[in-house]
Amino acid sequence: MTDAVETGSTSAAQVIAEARHGHVPQVELAGARFNSLNGQGVIVTGGASGIGADIVRGFAAQGCAVGFLDRDEAAGKALAASLPNAHFQLCDVTDVPALQAAMATLIARLGGVGVLVNNVANDDRHAFEAVTPEFFDERIAVNLRPHFFATQAVIGPMRERGGGAIVNLGSVSWKNKTLGLSVYATAKSAMSGFTRSLARELGRDGIRVNCVVPGWVMTQRQVDLWLDAAGEAEMERSQCLRGRIVGTDIAHMVMFLAADTARMITAQEFVVDAGWS
Ligand SMILES: NC(=O)c1ccc[n+]([C@@H]2O[C@H](COP(=O)([O-])OP(=O)(O)OC[C@H]3O[C@@H](n4cnc5c(N)ncnc54)[C@H](O)[C@@H]3O)[C@@H](O)[C@H]2O)c1
Repeated sequence: MTDAVETGSTSAAQVIAEARHGHVPQVELAGARFNSLNGQGVIVTGGASGIGADIVRGFAAQGCAVGFLDRDEAAGKALAASLPNAHFQLCDVTDVPALQAAMATLIARLGGVGVLVNNVANDDRHAFEAVTPEFFDERIAVNLRPHFFATQAVIGPMRERGGGAIVNLGSVSWKNKTLGLSVYATAKSAMSGFTRSLARELGRDGIRVNCVVPGWVMTQRQVDLWLDAAGEAEMERSQCLRGRIVGTDIAHMVMFLAADTARMITAQEFVVDAGWS
């Protein structure tokens, strides 16, 4: 079903060196072909930058019609313009009616949807004792609530086409007990329960629901905001594998789960963390 051809030539040592100089390591798509994805409608939330953008690029390379929504208009327009069949919808996902309208627009533009990737999040650091009810609600409004309502928007169209695949993005941050992320980590841990309960709810409709759990992924934002010498040392100590995880590594797993390669896989978590957790 798949024809995996390794084309990436970037060595682990090169990847580490690039990350240390403040750049995001570049790793090519592996060249795997997922025949069942060709021509499918795919929606990615928060797809304008970071891991989401790599997921958008991955599906576009499979011949999918990819719709993605984000609040970053400049990045979203630039990404859509660089790809053959990609549709960007400006949307702040904390506004649920706006999210519902954006999902309906994208589904119409794609002519249906077979895959939803619930990727949007915000991992800004916060001190536990400084969290106010307003801040708590705002974090949940980006890290949990949109996943629920974006999913609600696709199940009708997925049922109509006889099934589909939903992939939720979790995080190892809560498994690794990362400091300064209490609300974010609580919301990311909820991806596990959301995944498992929906898998049961939707399985009889042929809709599979899985969760991809990334380790520390070297996006531009991570390199610019959080990567420092202590972080480098932590990755050296805690990862089993040398090298750095990049968005393409997450996109590979997401595509495997969205495609017929995962035909009988649902309600599961797949950790991509170089062996950290
Ligand atoms: N980068 C990592 O190390 C890492 C680790 C574990 C899990 N994850 C998970 O992977 C996913 C992607 O992570 P990332 O690092 O690429 O995130 P990111 O913060 O770099 O990008 C998220 C995207 O969502 C968009 N966005 C943020 N708030 C929005 C809003 N209110 N409305 C619309 N769009 C909004 C941003 O503009 C951005 O394009 C997330 O679910 C994250 O929790 C990331």
